[in-house]
Amino acid sequence: MKILVIGSGGREHALAKKFMESPQVEEVFVAPGNSGMEKDGIQIVNISELSNDKLVEFAQNQNIGLTFVGPETALMNGVVDAFIKAELPIFGPNKMAAELEGSKDFAKSIMKKYGVPTADYATFDSLEPALAYLDEKGVPLVIKADGLAAGKGVTVAFDIETAKSALADIFSGSQGKVVIEEFLDGEEFSLFSFVHDGKIYPMPIAQDHKRAFDGDKGPNTGGMGAYSPVLHISKEVVNEALEKVVKPTVAGMIEEGKSFTGVLYAGLILTEDGVKTIEFNARFGDPETQVVLPRLKSDLAQVIIDILAGNEPTLEWLESGVTLGVVVAAEGYPSQAKLGLILPEIPEGLNVYYAGVSKNENNQLISSGGRVYLVSETGEDVKSTQKLLYEKLDKLENDGFFYRHDIGSKAVK
Ligand code: AMP
Ligand code: GLY
Repeated sequence: MKILVIGSGGREHALAKKFMESPQVEEVFVAPGNSGMEKDGIQIVNISELSNDKLVEFAQNQNIGLTFVGPETALMNGVVDAFIKAELPIFGPNKMAAELEGSKDFAKSIMKKYGVPTADYATFDSLEPALAYLDEKGVPLVIKADGLAAGKGVTVAFDIETAKSALADIFSGSQGKVVIEEFLDGEEFSLFSFVHDGKIYPMPIAQDHKRAFDGDKGPNTGGMGAYSPVLHISKEVVNEALEKVVKPTVAGMIEEGKSFTGVLYAGLILTEDGVKTIEFNARFGDPETQVVLPRLKSDLAQVIIDILAGNEPTLEWLESGVTLGVVVAAEGYPSQAKLGLILPEIPEGLNVYYAGVSKNENNQLISSGGRVYLVSETGEDVKSTQKLLYEKLDKLENDGFFYRHDIGSKAVK
């Protein structure tokens, strides 16, 4: 069978690599992919993730047996709807179901309607009432632009000035809708589930590191590193999340006529009052995928085929140890990342997933995005894995790049 993965980042590299392990998979294509993926024998296809017609045509011409969608932009652009119309097998939510990620307002309304625990909130489409609400509630508050923002449309405001300027920014641009939320305090974690037809197959949890710099300082990013599993968050807490968050949401989406197929990403926070939902995404997380999927022992292609056919999939995961991944970003990320930086030589045996990279005229890999590559390592526990990983990473010539030095540290405190 031939597989097509849609997207171009580290998450898609991890997906493609896992599909390559399947004995029934002959070829894995990624559209548009990135030049770093070719090192692993993955074929990159020069088609944008937003060109539905060309993706459908490619899948038909190549006789692709299964297409897997990585990024939310492609989902919101209706790639799943286009494939289904052409009767091609694809795994991901259609445009309507992807609204769970595409509109924070829609996600909040689903949570409210189906009793899913989340922060209290109000939605505004103009500045004046939003400012009045701000005055009434006081800080801390969280301000979220409605719509896709790649993890960067959120301001956690601890003072009124920050809150006001975030609102002013949102209403000065083309974006004209905002969700203002109660601030939740606690530890965050990500729970992914394969979902189809109301059936839910959860994966081991992961923990992302959203802030740019060590000690959770600096601006929010798409994610600077992750590890899985997160053993200090108990099985009971994960069960609570499944029962109170994932199950009612999946059932609620069916009730709304928006049945969800794909990977449902619940971004959760463990507060003093139990688990609450920060957000939903309609896809795998990046960089969490790079630490979750390598731990899957089962054949991913077969898992997806079984789920789509309504059969029970076999899902076996590594039972011991931990997988840790550190993102190497170009200086300036997340606002103005340096482009064209030459990547360091990667020694044999270092496990790398490429993201924002392309090739220069000398065939060298160069940075073409903010998050450039991720190095991962699997070891016995977080502390020893950090040591192994950082020893290798610190040796690379990362001039012009930066990375966090404390990925996983919440697990060793
Ligand atoms: P989101 O894009 O909704 O995932 O938000 C990005 C990040 O902002 C989250 O990972 C949290 O760290 C933070 N955040 C979002 N909503 C809240 C909230 N209600 N309370 C505290 N922190 C939040
Ligand atoms: N790691 C956060 C995300 O994928 O949205």
